[in-house]
Amino acid sequence: MKILFYMPHSDAAAWLDDFARALPEAELREWRPGDTAPADFAVVWRPPREMLAGRDDLRAIFNLGAGVDAILALEHEHPGTLPRNAPLIRLEDTGMAPQMAEYVAHAVLRYLRRFDEYQTLQNERRWEVLEPHPRETFTVGVLGLGVLGAHVAQTVAALGVPVRGYSRGARQIDGIATFAGEAQFDAFLDGVKVLVNLLPHTPDTVDVLNTRTFAKLARGAYLINVARGGHLVETDLLDALASGQLTAATLDVFRNEPLPQDHPFWREPRITITPHISALTLREESVDQVALKIGALARGESVSGVVSRERGY
Ligand code: NAP
Ligand code: GLV
Repeated sequence: MKILFYMPHSDAAAWLDDFARALPEAELREWRPGDTAPADFAVVWRPPREMLAGRDDLRAIFNLGAGVDAILALEHEHPGTLPRNAPLIRLEDTGMAPQMAEYVAHAVLRYLRRFDEYQTLQNERRWEVLEPHPRETFTVGVLGLGVLGAHVAQTVAALGVPVRGYSRGARQIDGIATFAGEAQFDAFLDGVKVLVNLLPHTPDTVDVLNTRTFAKLARGAYLINVARGGHLVETDLLDALASGQLTAATLDVFRNEPLPQDHPFWREPRITITPHISALTLREESVDQVALKIGALARGESVSGVVSRERGY
């Protein structure tokens, strides 16, 4: 069995070593431009078009992340790039869910307990006690209740704040008030104090974080975007901060990454920026999961995590 690997900015040798240990019978190689030799499986993150185009021999493509927007964009821009019969399989958790839960819980607690404001007061050497936010109305709304969103919602609920979740199809999660579909979108948003975005980036969800959405939240709400930069209309966020409709935002993802030096977000103290690190792809966990699935597919079994190209996630 031949496996082709591509992950820019990674320690490819370490990945290939781990795969060799997990799949000793496999022939592994890192893809380099010009390599058109046969392969059974591709394990990739943000591959260039020429890596996958014309590879009708592939039995599956494994995406080394949860989001498949970049790889589906190749197909959208150049139809026929992805082999028609090879399933596209995304990572399922592989240690990303606890990382995401830590990131979001930290941001929620920072705003709930006003640590962001205390930091500003400390910078000004001011000893001042702020009125605590009432916990019972500090409602957190999680957009997306998939592998990551469901875990985040449950972790945040354990902090003792009310939590709502929104998904495409109806979902039931203990302790979470759930809403589904466009018809329930406004009811989901109504009165939310912290909006957390964990939707996949698809044609249906692009630009979902916009003025209309912000207007439905509680006055002075907070935004935490950990999904994709393309979900956020950037000027709408700046307007919402200027008007006071939003108090602050924590952003891990941006339309252009790295965020350009001259971007206005860098100059806005109410925006907290991290460089797309809320849930990193962990090598050991990812190799274990992908290797198990390659083994299953080789035996003719089905696997979970297969992306619907029509839905876009
Ligand atoms: P997932 O398991 O595919 O879950 C997606 C959730 O979004 C599902 O609940 C789905 O509803 C819902 N959804 C999709 N389209 C919708 C729509 N049009 N309206 C309402 N709900 C919709 O994805 P995941 O593993 O939780 O990951 C979510 C996203 O996080 C990824 O796509 C990626 O972009 C992002 N991410 C970011 C980082 C980072 O470091 N910043 C790391 C990993 C992932 P159903 O349940 O009804 O299908
Ligand atoms: C990271 O952004 C991922 O989608 O896994």
